[in-house]
Amino acid sequence: MTTTAPGVERITVRKCEGIDELRACVALQKEVWGFDDVDLVPLRLFVVGQKIGGQIIGAFDGKDLVGFAFSIPGARAGRAYLHSHMLAVKNAWRNYGLGRRMKLAQRDDALQRGFDLMEWTFDPLEIKNAHLNLVRLGAIARRYSVNHYGDSSSPLQGGLPTDRLVAEWWLRSERVVNLLDRGRAPHIQMEKSIAVPAEIYAWKASAADRSKAAEVQLRNRQEFLQAFPQGLAALGYETDAAGNGRFLLGRWNEKWSSATAKLEAR
Ligand SMILES: CC(C)(COP(=O)(O)OP(=O)(O)OC[C@H]1O[C@@H](n2cnc3c(N)ncnc32)[C@H](O)[C@@H]1OP(=O)(O)O)[C@@H](O)C(=O)NCCC(=O)NCCS
Repeated sequence: MTTTAPGVERITVRKCEGIDELRACVALQKEVWGFDDVDLVPLRLFVVGQKIGGQIIGAFDGKDLVGFAFSIPGARAGRAYLHSHMLAVKNAWRNYGLGRRMKLAQRDDALQRGFDLMEWTFDPLEIKNAHLNLVRLGAIARRYSVNHYGDSSSPLQGGLPTDRLVAEWWLRSERVVNLLDRGRAPHIQMEKSIAVPAEIYAWKASAADRSKAAEVQLRNRQEFLQAFPQGLAALGYETDAAGNGRFLLGRWNEKWSSATAKLEAR
């Protein structure tokens, strides 16, 4: 559960300004992911992203950056969208709602600028991220990318292939508007579920148990790759008291899709 940290009310979420704030994003990226330098998104790309219509949104404790969300513009089937490449919160400030606040700031800015869609990828083994994306933000996932980035130097990846789900956040869909603007969670007619054991974090972090994490990844990869071509999408996520997670797959009854140049939904 998100709780209130002493001082969290003083954190402001706003667009980053000036080169020093972008430099702070690069430093926080290194702290959060622990990438080798060669894998880091460099300062210059933050500068470019900001100048070409992306978003660099920060969470600030006074002048100190404690989180950031970075997105760049993309285009598919002739339609522009925003691809959110990174969302990071400093360890000490996690689970106080800052990640969600930065995503909502991304949405506000995207809507103001006429975007319907934001996308990002996330590791389907990360229980917390799946909950945030599907349950708290209302994103859906219906595409699976095997070893998306190739090998990663980040310890968060635990040496596993970088499999990712693609989150689609249809900013004006009934699902998202109901959830975020009216506080109504979507009803899901579940046709299939895909489980992630709570131990996955420990398994990824331990060389001795990594093969167990790899087995879960492989099994779930096959399940997603079978389910998505059948028209199923990951629409919900449940976690139990022990911390186990499971994706809830069903059919999305809205027609938002970037495969068609013209949206059928409205
Ligand atoms: C992902 C990340 C940005 C989230 O930021 P955050 O400020 O902690 O997120 P929030 O507090 O807004 O939301 C976290 C939610 O996950 C929940 N959560 C935390 N641990 C969880 C777990 N083990 N299982 C399920 N849910 C969990 C929190 O309770 C909260 O949900 P709630 O609002 O329903 O209570 C942060 O954890 C991070 O920097 N992680 C490392 C980098 C990363 O993975 N980035 C995302 C991929 S690009």
